[in-house]
Amino acid sequence: MTKPQIWVATFLFLFIVLFLLGRLTKKEEPMKDFSGMNNAPMSEQTTSELTGDKLFQTFGCVNCHGVDLAGTNMAPALKGIKEFWSSRDNLINYLRNPNSFMDKDRFKEYRAKYPNQIMPAFGNKDVKDLGKIADYLLTQ
Ligand code: HEC
Repeated sequence: MTKPQIWVATFLFLFIVLFLLGRLTKKEEPMKDFSGMNNAPMSEQTTSELTGDKLFQTFGCVNCHGVDLAGTNMAPALKGIKEFWSSRDNLINYLRNPNSFMDKDRFKEYRAKYPNQIMPAFGNKDVKDLGKIADYLLTQ
């Protein structure tokens, strides 16, 4: 090989190695894992500054579930629900789409007890805010 040919070959080789490295180190974002959300750097946070219990009021949860999570005649009390929601991610998924959990016995009872109210879906809310609410509910 002539000298220029060696140079070209070297550059090609380096280019391929860098390309492969880039592919290998590219991070795949997991779809439904919200557990790491709280570790996001501040600059990326579009979420409000409100705490979980304040968000519970702001989002209107309190209108149905009552003050102090005591429940009303429109919706069940939410005290001690950590007994049923061992996973934070599950609870967030529930808030985003309550319908997908309706086949559970507990929810069939709720349907009978609160026939005129349904738990609205909060899929349009920031997942970080829902995470804060979930954290709040799971410590009550
Ligand atoms: C319009 C009334 C209404 C509003 C507003 C509402 N909920 Fe509900 N929620 C219900 C009803 C009714 C149920 C019982 C399940 C059903 O019938 O859909 C329920 C069930 C739940 C449950 C499951 C309870 C359990 O035993 O596991 C959670 C958790 C919950 N709501 C949280 C929230 C949060 C958080 C908000 C606000 C972001 C909220 N709800 C807003 C009516 C409401």
